[in-house]
Amino acid sequence: MFQVNENYLKLPGSYLFSTIAKKVNAYEKANPDKRIIRLGIGDVTQPLVPAIIRAMHEAVDEMGNAESFRGYAPDLGYGFLREKIAQKDYRARGCDISADEIFISDGAKSDCGNIQEIFSQDCRIAVCDPVYPVYVDSNVMAGRCGDYDKVRGLWSNVIYMPCTAENDFVPELPRETPDLIYLCVPNNPTGTALTRQQLKVWVDYANKTGAVILYDAAYEAYIAQEEVPHSIFEIQGARTCAIEFRSFSKNAGFTGVRLGFTVIPKDLKSGDVAVHGLWARRHGTKFNGAPYIVQKAAMAVYSDEGKAQLKGQVAYYMKNAKVIYEGLKKAGYQVYGGVNAPYIWLKTPDGMSSWDFFDWLLEHANVVGTPGSGFGPSGEGYFRLTAFGTYENTAEAMERIRESREGF
Ligand SMILES: Cc1ncc(COP(=O)(O)O)c(C=O)c1O
Repeated sequence: MFQVNENYLKLPGSYLFSTIAKKVNAYEKANPDKRIIRLGIGDVTQPLVPAIIRAMHEAVDEMGNAESFRGYAPDLGYGFLREKIAQKDYRARGCDISADEIFISDGAKSDCGNIQEIFSQDCRIAVCDPVYPVYVDSNVMAGRCGDYDKVRGLWSNVIYMPCTAENDFVPELPRETPDLIYLCVPNNPTGTALTRQQLKVWVDYANKTGAVILYDAAYEAYIAQEEVPHSIFEIQGARTCAIEFRSFSKNAGFTGVRLGFTVIPKDLKSGDVAVHGLWARRHGTKFNGAPYIVQKAAMAVYSDEGKAQLKGQVAYYMKNAKVIYEGLKKAGYQVYGGVNAPYIWLKTPDGMSSWDFFDWLLEHANVVGTPGSGFGPSGEGYFRLTAFGTYENTAEAMERIRESREGF
């Protein structure tokens, strides 16, 4: 009789967003006259910009022509895109990264989830709390996290780094020594970021202890402050201790198109084994290359025209972020994030639990957000709103939240 991977059975049941969807559906059914505004899920709403659409059309035409048709893409990505990324995202910022250290993929979620595979079963992971759930769940599946304590919402073999208003959402160096440290900057869900100085502390720590920083920079395009680095490789010493994940989802609206990349410097080694070679092997075995059409579309992200259009798109979302941030402040909430990220993190009023606030906001403002406790126990008492809605909906949601607060 076959056996299943029992680690999967350890994963706690209902996924955050399906619970939210169920609650919203039930509310909608009971109140068909109410117009609900969704500021919960971190998906983009603006269409692909013209420069990207044109590049895609051109690539589609190439695929319809025997001379220019392409079959399987190279496993690690087309050279034209890897070179462009190395040049524009890294060397232009003074980072010493070469094209063959860039691995093109179908998105940051797959890479963040799969990366743990190339590390030993015995590695201990450290994560921020609250956290993007993929980091923990993928390690649970691999059997690295121990047992789940339902009451505390914690895994026995995971090192948690609480990020709350008390420490300005900046993770502190853990007392126990981890092997793999997941950092997400700018952060989902708290919308906060680390400065160069703060990140340097982590790079030095990882080099000293022999840990690897798994650095998720999916929201890099939203960085507004000069002191926040766009890549961990801006920090001296990162080449020997860091892997970086990037995505085209939030800077270019590719959530449905799918494209991302991972950067692994050749200097990142365990003894004399380079991690770079292991990821190349893994990618070559399990991934058959991202589509040519999509990689060509990504080239337009770096053209002058594409860059200008995408700058406008990011500005559109960040205008929403400002509307939310200021709207909540005016309504008397304690608010964080929203400056270097499209996420706004607020403290629930009067010690309300995250889920109670979810229900309250749905009922009184017909606005959907995400309960902070869904991202980890230290997210309890917080709530996430996203700037990815339309401007009109965002502005109306803030108006409703302000009115509902008056009746609180
Ligand atoms: C922190 C973080 N990393 C990665 C991803 C996934 O990115 P992708 O769409 O490239 O898979 C998300 C998506 O919301 C995210 O919030």
